Amino acid sequence: MDFPVFHLDFFGNRLLIAVIATLHVLINHMLAVGAIPLVAFLEWLGLRSGDQRWDDLARRILFVCFIVTTSLGALTGVGIWLSTSLVNPAAIGSLIRVFFWAWFFEWTVFVTEVVLILIYFLSWRTAWARRHRRAHLGLGVLLAVFSWLTMAVIVAILGFQMDTGVWTVQPGFWTAVLNPLYLPQLAFRTPFALVTAGLFALMLTGLFTRGDREFRGTAVRTISIWSLVFTPAMLLGAWSYWQAIPERMLANLPTALTTLTFTDFLEPLRLAILASVVAVIAVCAWGVAAPRRLPALVLVVPFLLAVWQLSYFERVREFIRKPDVVAEYMYSNGLRASDYPLYREQGLLTLATYSPVGEVTEFNRHEAGREMFRLACSRCHTTHGVNGVVEKLATMYGWQDWDHATIDTYLQSMHNARPFMPPVPGNDAERGALATYLIDLRDDPAGLAGAQSHGAMPASH
Ligand code: HEC
Repeated sequence: MDFPVFHLDFFGNRLLIAVIATLHVLINHMLAVGAIPLVAFLEWLGLRSGDQRWDDLARRILFVCFIVTTSLGALTGVGIWLSTSLVNPAAIGSLIRVFFWAWFFEWTVFVTEVVLILIYFLSWRTAWARRHRRAHLGLGVLLAVFSWLTMAVIVAILGFQMDTGVWTVQPGFWTAVLNPLYLPQLAFRTPFALVTAGLFALMLTGLFTRGDREFRGTAVRTISIWSLVFTPAMLLGAWSYWQAIPERMLANLPTALTTLTFTDFLEPLRLAILASVVAVIAVCAWGVAAPRRLPALVLVVPFLLAVWQLSYFERVREFIRKPDVVAEYMYSNGLRASDYPLYREQGLLTLATYSPVGEVTEFNRHEAGREMFRLACSRCHTTHGVNGVVEKLATMYGWQDWDHATIDTYLQSMHNARPFMPPVPGNDAERGALATYLIDLRDDPAGLAGAQSHGAMPASH
């Protein structure tokens, strides 16, 4: 309410966060949390066996991780905070209040991680590392711990957003961190990262060992075993996570897994997810049984499937939390549920510092409605773009003939029919203005479209 509204009216705010965050999670889990212990393990194999080829493979895999994590990984990491702060500053503000020291700690852990990976990678072929091979390996182990820690801190915040647990009655830093979803999420994400890092490394091994079929066989077998070893823990973690998801969120699952239009495809989709897990296990089993007969191209398949699974998992997690951004405290529109009576009484626009419209009059209904759309809907909808509200409304029965009163009635009950949406905030006149705006969008789709307002400065009302 006391922040300007940032709105990308074609791409959508939701998609902006999703693209950046998913890319970041993929890099973090596969190329840092999971990959660093694997690289250290391969280095250790080289040390133990005296076979230089292990050492070379480990270094080459680390090279890829090093480049990607310190560039795209770091950029998307900052990008998450930038995009979420732009789209929902109120939510980030609340989370900073609760997790203040976690943010601080995260920064120090992250800096340490970057410094360690710089030293671990850049010192690999130095005379020092050749003389102190165990110390160099120790650096890898330390880096693995710090990579895991960066994830372990953030997961606390993600869990808290889904279920604040006893924090509401016993507010405090540790009750927030140890929310009901924290440990289950860690129990899932840790082995998930280890398994998927193996799949990523399998793909790279196919690439890096082209000239040496014998060693490729050995390496593929070893890394396949690595992924298979952590698979039971991953499945167990997934199960414990599933058990911890609050009951009320499960109603969102069909839409989260598909979309409103495709909920009929739920069963085929479940089968596809299951099949993708089985396919990954099958390729790894092949990698153990007959690694030399496994074509390098097949090694790409588990990696691609894992990318899909991980991205999909993040979408579902983000979706089922709706309509809240912080469980039972703040809606995704950045408004606190407990403030709704105040908005009803005094008006949402009146209290919105940056809204150029303060009060609905007979002459400003369209502008007021547009501000209402920006405040109440734009975190999840565009007007005509991704998840566009015009297109969504058009799927409603008889929409073309809906008059103002019908739309107004719909807006009052929308959240009951679709519990992933928050109730429309504000007073009757403001809701009426929103209905007018939606009618205008329908009747003049090209002309009045823009949900961007020019109210960058606080209005004096
Ligand atoms: C928390 C995010 C969120 C907010 C805020 C939100 N919506 Fe939605 N809305 C969704 C999602 C997600 C869908 C379903 C998209 C899909 O799967 O097709 C949806 C669907 C809809 C539909 C179609 C419903 C149906 O039964 O087919 C309408 C209409 C709609 N939204 C209008 C609005 C309006 C108007 C606002 C603002 C007052 C709003 N929404 C606010 C997330 C949101």
